[in-house]
Amino acid sequence: MRRPVLAGNWKMFKTIPEAVDFVEKLKPLVAKAEDCEVVVAPPFTALSAVAAAVKGSNIQVASQDMHWEKEGAHTGDVSAAMILDAGCAYVIIGHSERRQDHAETDENVNRKAKAALAAGLLPIVCVGETLAEREASRTQEVLERQFTGGFAGLTPQEFSRIIVAYEPVWAIGTGRTATPEMAAESHRYLRGLAHQQFGEGLAVELRILYGGSVKPENVAGLMAQEEIDGALVGGASLKADSYSAIVNYPRK
Ligand code: PGA
Repeated sequence: MRRPVLAGNWKMFKTIPEAVDFVEKLKPLVAKAEDCEVVVAPPFTALSAVAAAVKGSNIQVASQDMHWEKEGAHTGDVSAAMILDAGCAYVIIGHSERRQDHAETDENVNRKAKAALAAGLLPIVCVGETLAEREASRTQEVLERQFTGGFAGLTPQEFSRIIVAYEPVWAIGTGRTATPEMAAESHRYLRGLAHQQFGEGLAVELRILYGGSVKPENVAGLMAQEEIDGALVGGASLKADSYSAIVNYPRK
């Protein structure tokens, strides 16, 4: 059984007081969601305050990024040890906005994933094709490159702690969701890659989240797909009512 993960990626939103106020509202609204992992990913500045505010609740904290080095001359970056120290259990790695805005490569993703695992964090590694790539029928080729590059050299033991998020870039922030069937097709493909590289047992256990315009209205349809093990939610995770409605989607 793959335990679902519902994760809210706040991106560059919320000051510290706004972040704390949000999780105080969210806590009672999601308290009964015991069958899944509920995660919020505030900006770096609010990580520690949010981690303190959710202590003792079923909400856990993720960072939106990290550097792979332990420390050093890397202005503007933070390390795995720093986000762990701030109270994170998870870290989002290789989000398409990092890949686009900060020229992150699969090699960077790979280094970050290894450093995150070494520090004891659970990496949520994002993959997904752009619209141009989908239209050129290159979706699988892109996913294969990102998967193979991102997870190169991981031991099976390390891979067992990876969470993958399939986020077609054309569906992020656009209101255009992949249909549950389209998402499931890519998830199946990714699980097949996991099977090839790490064996059937780990492939069956691998949690693959869908991300891209997930909302209270479409989450149940996505989660009804056997292949979809949760969601990485951007815009709709910023309000307590919509995010809690996603976490509390009607179970089958
Ligand atoms: P969205 O973002 O839900 O606003 O489309 C998803 C994401 O970027 O993780």
